Amino acid sequence: MENTKIPRHIAIIMDGNGRWARERGLPRIAGHYKGVEVAEDIARYCIEIGVSYLTLFAFSTENWYRPKEEVELLFGLLKKYLTDKRDELIELGIYTRFIGRRDRIDKDILTLMEAMERDKPKDIKLNLILAIDYGGRDDIVRAVRKLINKGFKEVDEISFSKFLDLGSVPDPDLLIRTAGEKRISNFLLWNIAYTELYFTDVCWPDFNRDILDEAIEDFSKRKRKFGRILNE
Ligand code: FPP
Repeated sequence: MENTKIPRHIAIIMDGNGRWARERGLPRIAGHYKGVEVAEDIARYCIEIGVSYLTLFAFSTENWYRPKEEVELLFGLLKKYLTDKRDELIELGIYTRFIGRRDRIDKDILTLMEAMERDKPKDIKLNLILAIDYGGRDDIVRAVRKLINKGFKEVDEISFSKFLDLGSVPDPDLLIRTAGEKRISNFLLWNIAYTELYFTDVCWPDFNRDILDEAIEDFSKRKRKFGRILNE
């Protein structure tokens, strides 16, 4: 990884938990359980290699249409994670925040989320952003609503983007999607205008540090032009 450019902000669509479980004859939730372990290890690795922001797509605005049992199990997993890991995350220097709608989340989980956002480590080593009940279109519509409510008559890209859930967080440099699908699925639409995309066939529960290294190496070789012409 010498001479490798490390992205400041990595976003990940953690896909394929269900397929991973099915291939092993396990219930889908077993894939999500393993997925949480992988997410934690990747967050720890991001600290080691100097990534400042990690945004993970944990639950989309469309995921409510999954069977009630799976939705409940996913939120149960989140609740357990937020309860069990709170102190550990702070000790590691991980500052956890959330993006997405907050009006459809159970009150007890919301309380845990808000507590986590108040618990800011003294020395922040990684900003972990969990997207829960998140949709890129919904994010944009909520931003527009906020502007209307504040009586804005004029708006530009910079003032508009401050009203999005990521606010002043820098745009992702690299977006990774696992499990073979090559689409954005309503993740950070506005913020990924110039993000480099990386797709791998590996299902999220099998994702690991080596695959992240490969993605970063690939990213590092790309010439980011942001629509301009580079002087070679
Ligand atoms: C996609 O796999 C994964 C999800 C919809 C949920 C991802 C959530 C986690 C890994 C847990 C998040 C919780 C914390 C605390 C970070 P899929 O179920 O769509 O898989 P499939 O496409 O193979 O069915």
